[in-house]
Amino acid sequence: MSNDAFLTVDQYISDLFSRDDDALKAVATSLDDAGVHNISVSSSQGKLLQVLAQLCGATRILEVGTLAGYSTIWLARALPETGRLVSIEYDPRHARIATENVARAGLSGRVEIRLGKALEVLDALHRERPPAFDMVFIDADKAPYDQYFQWALKLTRPGSLIVADNVVRGGEVMGTGGDANVQGARRFLQVLAQTTSVSATVLQTVGAKGHDGMAIAVVKRP
Ligand code: SAH
Ligand code: DHB
Ligand code: MG
Repeated sequence: MSNDAFLTVDQYISDLFSRDDDALKAVATSLDDAGVHNISVSSSQGKLLQVLAQLCGATRILEVGTLAGYSTIWLARALPETGRLVSIEYDPRHARIATENVARAGLSGRVEIRLGKALEVLDALHRERPPAFDMVFIDADKAPYDQYFQWALKLTRPGSLIVADNVVRGGEVMGTGGDANVQGARRFLQVLAQTTSVSATVLQTVGAKGHDGMAIAVVKRP
């Protein structure tokens, strides 16, 4: 099947299961208006994240890499009224756009966007000794993915879910080459596979975002 066919089927699935409402449509518009490249997850991937958050009964979600808040909104909608999502973003312009998009979606009370470099914000967050996160979505720069994963382990509990985007990159993750992002994803997958405290796999994805994949890991219960 060509990617055109994958795209058509992805559209079919999205039409059935993950139609963007006005608040989600506004996220794409906000990126266009700002001239920022739209690298948000697709709508079917957003729905997958939401289903996973619902599956683990998440009341606390951590996201690394907000962009304009598209995945943030899908995830935050899985939370109860009293739930919390902390999303980390280092580009002030992205954070401002995301804040507006989250407000438009009526989710400001559940979502906190923390501005700063992810490794620094994760360190600061950990020092606050917050209650464990039920789910972590890693989707910022790929080179330090293995370090984001180590923080995710520290900030979660047995039974928590850790998901990481863009770990296949059209198959580039195999072998030895690739740019810093591909090498970061590869190093992360190797670490993930060797971490005995999690049970993990990679789900390949096709369609609107091309051939890629999400790593999905559950922190093992003792
Ligand atoms: N999760 C979003 C897409 C995130 S794109 C969605 O699916 O809707 C990746 C984001 O990570 C970008 O906004 C980028 O500015 C941010 N980012 C990249 N490196 C970062 C870092 N070191 N710390 C924090 N944010 C970073
Ligand atoms: C790209 C896609 C992503 O989902 C991401 O997080 C970063 C980059 C891309 O297509 O380049
Ligand atoms: Mg991504």
